[in-house]
Amino acid sequence: MNILLIGSGGREHALSWKMSQSPLCENLYILPGNAGTAQCGTNVALNQSDFESIKTFALEHKISLCVIGPEAPLVEGIYDFFKGDEALAHIIVIGPSQEGAQLEGSKAYAKKFMADFNIPTAAYQEFTAETLAAGLSYIETQTPPIVLKADGLAAGKGVLIIDNIEEAKTALTEMLGGKFGQASETVVIEQFLDGIEFSVFVLTDGKDYQVLPVAKDYKRIGEGDTGLNTGGMGAVSPVPFVDDVLMKKVEDRVIKPTINGIHQKGIQYQGFVFIGLIKVGEEPYVIEYNCRLGDPETEVVLPRLKNDLVQLFQATDNGGLASVKIEKDERAATTIMLVSGGYPEAYEKGKLITGIDNINDSIVFHAGTKAVDGTVHTNGGRVLAITSFGSDIKTALDISNKNAEQISFEGKNYRRDIGFDL
Ligand code: AMP
Ligand code: GLY
Repeated sequence: MNILLIGSGGREHALSWKMSQSPLCENLYILPGNAGTAQCGTNVALNQSDFESIKTFALEHKISLCVIGPEAPLVEGIYDFFKGDEALAHIIVIGPSQEGAQLEGSKAYAKKFMADFNIPTAAYQEFTAETLAAGLSYIETQTPPIVLKADGLAAGKGVLIIDNIEEAKTALTEMLGGKFGQASETVVIEQFLDGIEFSVFVLTDGKDYQVLPVAKDYKRIGEGDTGLNTGGMGAVSPVPFVDDVLMKKVEDRVIKPTINGIHQKGIQYQGFVFIGLIKVGEEPYVIEYNCRLGDPETEVVLPRLKNDLVQLFQATDNGGLASVKIEKDERAATTIMLVSGGYPEAYEKGKLITGIDNINDSIVFHAGTKAVDGTVHTNGGRVLAITSFGSDIKTALDISNKNAEQISFEGKNYRRDIGFDL
């Protein structure tokens, strides 16, 4: 079949690397893609929010599977666009409907969903400009740290964790005053949960589901989990503290009620639910939902998945998902993200990257890269993800770290301590 993948990051290189291994994959197109995805298929220079152009392309190239990597087109309703168009409706779309994408696109929606279906999460209240005074009083009743979340998508910057009541009140006032534009017209204030985070990925057809390998990502820019939040600086899978006992709690208390909730609400959802969890004591709580795979978690999850991914996607459409058996590589996989100097704040692009071709014991997934006359240049904050296997996490990390040294570009930065807390 002909497959169209939307997106351009490390996640999309990993998805295209995996799908291109399937005998079911005839032609793979990545829109817009990067220098790495171009080695797995054909990049298409279109805008991922330009649904009309995507439609024309999909029809001309007889696409029968369309996989949506990032959240933005899903929140903008790409699923509904396909299913509402007679010419496109037959195409399998991996990614939920606009309503399902609200699990990621609106923190208030997600919190209400969790409350309605009795899914463990931090206690919360939501406020708007009209209820600012009530919000300020609510903060006074809380014990810091105070967690403030912009309701909508805010490029990963919409969550503030503040140690002081007065500062939290100022922050709430600023957020409701438009600090994150429309995204912070509603703000969720929630209880701070103290624990260790991990990520669970579920593939669902809206009724049945399968659980993919568990991962943990490292979001802060600095070693020891310090400094600003990033999209993710590295990841590992499996996660040693996520044992069978904890995973059973996650499945019974979180995954099953989440899929049941989606089903009961009649939400069209063929795709991934990414559940960001935190282990507090021995108990799992949901920090957030995302309606897509994580990045860089995908760069360790898919290498450990032995199943044919295209076949799994087909199963979300033909009722076969319940009978699939997920097979995992028992080895550990780790990834280390090489980023541009300055990231996650301002950084320069267009730096020549050297040394990728000499690496043969890691998979180098491209994130922000661009091919220029036979060479590869940086084209984003997160540049390359170096994924390695090992009998354990440490062995895999040693290989990723060794190869991170071998690749050069001006300003290269990376964390040498991925996995430090395991
Ligand atoms: P989110 O965008 O909701 O995933 O939040 C971003 C990050 O903020 C999470 O990955 C956590 O590290 C942290 N965080 C969010 N909510 C809480 C909470 N209730 N308690 C503690 N940390 C949180
Ligand atoms: N790595 C976290 C995310 O993809 O949101």
